[in-house]
Amino acid sequence: MIKVTKLTKDYGARRAIDNLSFHAERGEVIGFLGPNGAGKTTTLRILSGYMPPTFGKAEIGGFDVVDQSLEVRKIVGYLPETVPLYPDMTVFEFLKYKADLHHIPNAEDRVDEVLEMVDMLDRSEGYIAALSKGMRQRVGLGQALLHKPEVLILDEPTIGLDPAQIIEVRNLIKRIGKERTIMLSTHILSEAQQVCDRVLIINKGHIVAEDTPERLQSRLAGSQRVELRIRKNSEEAMPLIKKVRGVTNVTVTTDDLLEFEMGANQDVRPNVARAIVQGGFDLLEMKQNTLSLEDIFLELTRDETTPPSLKDRADQP
Ligand SMILES: Nc1ncnc2c1ncn2[C@@H]1O[C@H](COP(=O)(O)OP(=O)(O)OP(=O)(O)O)[C@@H](O)[C@H]1O
Ligand SMILES: [Mg+2]
Repeated sequence: MIKVTKLTKDYGARRAIDNLSFHAERGEVIGFLGPNGAGKTTTLRILSGYMPPTFGKAEIGGFDVVDQSLEVRKIVGYLPETVPLYPDMTVFEFLKYKADLHHIPNAEDRVDEVLEMVDMLDRSEGYIAALSKGMRQRVGLGQALLHKPEVLILDEPTIGLDPAQIIEVRNLIKRIGKERTIMLSTHILSEAQQVCDRVLIINKGHIVAEDTPERLQSRLAGSQRVELRIRKNSEEAMPLIKKVRGVTNVTVTTDDLLEFEMGANQDVRPNVARAIVQGGFDLLEMKQNTLSLEDIFLELTRDETTPPSLKDRADQP
C-alpha cells in the first residue's frame, strides 16, 4: 500500500531526510519512531501529498504522491502534527464541511459515527475555539477517519491526550489497522511497542533499524549487564571475575561495586559468585539489568554522526 524509494528532502541546505526506503502492506501498523527533528513529520507530509520530496519517490495504493496527489488524498486520511481547525465552527459543522469536501454520502450520519469513534459526541455542538488541546487532537483524528481511508497517516496521534484517551486511541488504531494500513509517528517507545506490527527507528533523517518490536528488542539486547557488590577492594576482585568464561567488559565502579556483561543466553552468574567467594571476598549483592527498548533506542540514536547536510554529500558521487 505504501512504497517509498530513496526519499530525500532538503530544506535549503539542511537535509531533513536522506534516502529513506520502506514499504507497508494492508493490515499493517507501521511505527515511525525517532527523537525530535529526526524527520518523521517531513516524511509523513510528503506521504500525504502535502509537500514534494527533493529526490526519490513515494507511492500510496499505486498512486504517485506528487503526480497523482488528488487520488492519493482520496485514499489517505492524514492527521497532521498541527491540526488546522476553524475556531468559529462547531465541531459538527467542521466535520460536516470536511465530509462534504470528500463528497461523502449521508454525511451527517458519518460525522456522528466518527464523533462516536473519537468520543466527542457530547461536544459536537461546541465551538472549536473552546476545545481543549486533547479534544482538538481528537477532532483532527476524526477528520482523518471521515472518508474511511484505506491508508491512515497519523503524526503523533496520542500527543496531548489524557491517559484514558491514549488507551482509547491506541485501541482504535489497532482495530482500524487490522484491515487498513496505518503509518504513525511517535517518540514514545511503549506506544510503538503496543500498537505497531513493525517499527522503523529514524534518527537524523536515516533509518537506523527496522523490525518487529519484539525482534528489535531481542536482536539488540544481545548482552546483559550485571552489577555486583562486594564488601570492599573491588579493584582486587576484578582479575578473578575477568577469568570466568563468558564474562566480558568488567568495570570497577566504586570501591565495592563492579559491573560485567555476559551473553543473553549464557548465565554465568553462579560461576562469578563462586570465583568471588573462593577468592576470599564477601559477595553482598548481584543484580542483572536487561536492556530495555529504551536503552536500545538511546543506543541507536546516540549522537555519533554529524547531521546529514548537503556539504557532506557534495564529495560523494
Ligand atoms: N519548514 C521547514 N523549514 C526548514 N527546516 C525544517 C522545516 N521543517 C522541518 N525542518 C527541519 O527538518 C528536520 C526534521 O524535522 P521534522 O519536523 O521532520 O522532525 P520530527 O521527527 O517530526 O521531529 P519532532 O519529533 O520534533 O516532531 C529538523 O532538523 C527540522 O529543523
Ligand atoms: Mg514531528
